[in-house]
Parts: sequence; structure tokens; C-alpha cells
Amino acid sequence: MSQHTSAARTVGDTPKGGSVLGFYAPKGTPRPPQVAHAAGVYLWDVHGKRYLDATSGAVVTNIGHGNPQVLQAMQEQARKVTFAYPRFFESELSIRLSDKVCELAGEGFDRAFFVSGGSEANESAIKLARQYAVVSGQASRVKVISRNPSYHGATLGALAVTGDSSTLALYGPMVKTLPKVAAPLSYRLPEGHSVESFEEACAAKLETIILSEGPASVLAFIMEPIGGLSTGGVVSSPRYFQSVRKICDHHGVLLIFDEIMSGAGRTGEFLSAHHWADSRPDLVTLAKGLAAGYTPLGAVLAPNHIVDAIAGSGGFVHGHTYFTNPLSCAVANAVLDEVTRLNLVEQARDNGCYLENKLRAMAERSALVGDVRGKGLLLAIELVGDKESKKQLPVSFNAPARLTAHGLKRGIALYNRRANKGEFGDFQMITPPLTSTRAELDELVELLEQSLSDLQAEIHSVGLI
Ligand SMILES: Cc1ncc(COP(=O)(O)O)c(C=O)c1O
Repeated sequence: MSQHTSAARTVGDTPKGGSVLGFYAPKGTPRPPQVAHAAGVYLWDVHGKRYLDATSGAVVTNIGHGNPQVLQAMQEQARKVTFAYPRFFESELSIRLSDKVCELAGEGFDRAFFVSGGSEANESAIKLARQYAVVSGQASRVKVISRNPSYHGATLGALAVTGDSSTLALYGPMVKTLPKVAAPLSYRLPEGHSVESFEEACAAKLETIILSEGPASVLAFIMEPIGGLSTGGVVSSPRYFQSVRKICDHHGVLLIFDEIMSGAGRTGEFLSAHHWADSRPDLVTLAKGLAAGYTPLGAVLAPNHIVDAIAGSGGFVHGHTYFTNPLSCAVANAVLDEVTRLNLVEQARDNGCYLENKLRAMAERSALVGDVRGKGLLLAIELVGDKESKKQLPVSFNAPARLTAHGLKRGIALYNRRANKGEFGDFQMITPPLTSTRAELDELVELLEQSLSDLQAEIHSVGLI
């Protein structure tokens, strides 16, 4: 069979080499389309079929595909120098990028440390926090509290703070899993709670855990300020953020915001932290939209006093071969210039409202969409079997994966990765490129609604409802 006749192809049909899919997709499942090229908000497969990118891949391609300015910057830098190890050569590009990112991030962020992606960024932030504690006379601080559910990356260190029981069931015994506090989910609440009272309870629990672990042993609290796939776009109230900041201050615990998905303009502010004026984090991590998929890149943003303390005591004991890579820094400089030139942060805010309203109207019409949430263009829908009782479809049915499969047939590309094996609900991110026009957002909702109808037909045909 030719490699390009995809109809009957399944994962595992290539006995040797062939496809990385064999590592992570169950054997026998249909293989996804092979991408040929992409432009703007669309991708085409090798047969010429077009797909609307409704989720920016894994919430990455914020400026769309094939941006000419970024491609030109990439080419120009590739001709000059693609690699120079930062311990031996400084690069003007990394200084410029650091200045640019810190300017956009605003007060409290003076330096940026660049790595290759989100997991590396979170591990770097945790190590930076730890080294800062040691050099400032608080060596007993070692524990990083995080939330459940949450996602902070796939490497073993990032997994230690990730709240995902299904992944931890496999890898947990290999890592030192750290204390978790419930994330304030807002749709399906514990018995007797309102959204507000549950948020309060979650914040209070953070303090209880700090006290029970021993405040002098707690280094940091890491959280996604606006949830990604782990919570399906949960946004908390200013009061929750104020409480968290107050508790961390009171106990000398550093607050780390994982803005790998929510940062770089996606929610209508450069950092989603900017939505809550008096609850600033001490450290922020970025990736995904920072280089928008044109190159792998992540970053830790830190204030001078933390970096200076570490530099003054011998320097950060941490680094990777590709940290501060000149080609990646050139690309990210060009991406951020495009974010500014095209007013994409404002566009994310305005078009986010437009899309959210359209999704809410769609949810009214659909029997399967129980909730719509998020901020800016970091939106999510929650799929349910019964809207009134908020009852989830059977977990084994894996509704988000089936919706993705229907979407591909309809010509819409959705991002699907199920957190916690669906324990907290079935979420689908709706996170198109920030460059999407209103007409493209209309098309997104139309295709999504058709895919939801297909899913509903499938649910009826197998007798689930
Ligand atoms: C909130 C959050 N943190 C961390 C990560 C890990 O980033 P990466 O996959 O680049 O390592 C992700 C990836 O989806 C994420 O959404």
C-alpha cells in the first residue's frame, strides 16, 4: 500500500521505523492525516484536504502558520549563526528577547532565562526558586505545592508537581510526588458548595497544607492562572488570587504562575496574571505562543532580586545544551514583533468575547455542551451526557477523542489530550490562532457544531443516550 493512501491505515501497520505514532497511539487505531503544508489558520493534508486549526495545535500557533516576517527572520538568522553555546558566547538576540519579554510582562519581571519548552521552563523555575532559597538562608525550603488537577509537563521533575492521577499511577513511584491542593473547578462542584465557597475552601486548604507540611519546608506554590486541558479553561475570581497571594506572602512561599498555555497574549493580556492586578506571581513560565511553533522555546521570567542573589553566590546551577539558542531567540523576537504589530493581544480580548458568545449560543443549541469557559482566546467547552444533571458521558466512551475524529472528517483540527483519564470531566479546548478573523471564527463554530451533531448521532447509534 502506498504511504499516501490513508483510508485503511492504522497505527502499528509499519513494523519498523516509519512512524513516531507507534509510541503513543493505541495499535490498530486509524492514523491521522499527514500534514503537507499550512498557511494562516489552515492546514492541508497530502491529499489536499483543508483543516481549520481550531486549537492552534496544542495551543501553540498564536500568530497562525507561515507568517512571512517570522520566516524571513528565521532564514536571515540561519545564515548568520544557528548555534553558539551561551556559556561561551553571548548573543545580542537573547538580550533583545529578554528585554522585550520583560517589557511586555511588566513590573516585577526583569530577566528571562530561555529553554526549549514548557516542561524545561517549569523545572528551571522550580530550581531557580530552590537555589534562591538556599542562597538567602532558607535551605530547609524544598517542597513545591501544586493543584489537582493540573498539568506542568511531562518530564519527571514536572510530573512531580502535575496533578494527573493516571500519569502518576505509572510514573509516580519513580518521582518524589509533592503535596497537592484541589484546583477550584467551577462547573461540577462538591456537595454543598457554590463556586465562591469552593474557591474559598481551596485557598484555605492551601494554607492548611502549608501548615501541616511545615511552612519552613515549603518552597513554592505553582499553578496555572487560567487552566488548560487539566481543568478545561477554569478562570477563578480575583478573591481567589488575592487569597493565594496573601497566604504565600504570609508563609514566605514563592508563587509561580505556569503561563505556558495562558501567556504570550492568548487571554487578552500578555500575561494572564495581568488580569488580577494585586496578585502578582514571583516567577512566571512561558512557552508555546512565545515562539508560536516556529521553533521550540520556553522561558522563565524572574525579578532582579532573585537573579542577583543567585548570580552573587556563584550563578544558576542549571542549564541545557539548547538554552538561549540564537536561532530560537531570533524567531521569538520576530514572533513578538508580529504580536505587537498586529495588535494580537487586543484582538485576543475582542475576538475572545465574540467567540465565547458564539460558543454560548452554540451550547444552547447542543445537547452535549454543558459549559463554556475561559478568557480571551483560551476557551474550552465541557461535554456532558445530560445538561441538567451535568452528568458526564461514560468515561470509557472518551467523548473528546471521538469529537476530534469527527472534526477531522469535517475539516476542523481540534487538540485532544485527556487529563486524568476524564476523572474531572470531558474538556475540549477552543483556542484558535490570535490572528483568526471573525469570518474564520464563524467557520470554526459552524464546523464544531457539525462535528458535535456527528458525535451526538454516534452516541445515539451506540445507545448511550
Ligand atoms: C500549562 C502547561 N504547562 C506545561 C506544559 C508542558 O509544556 P511542554 O509540552 O512544552 O513541555 C504544558 C503543555 O501542554 C502546559 O499546557
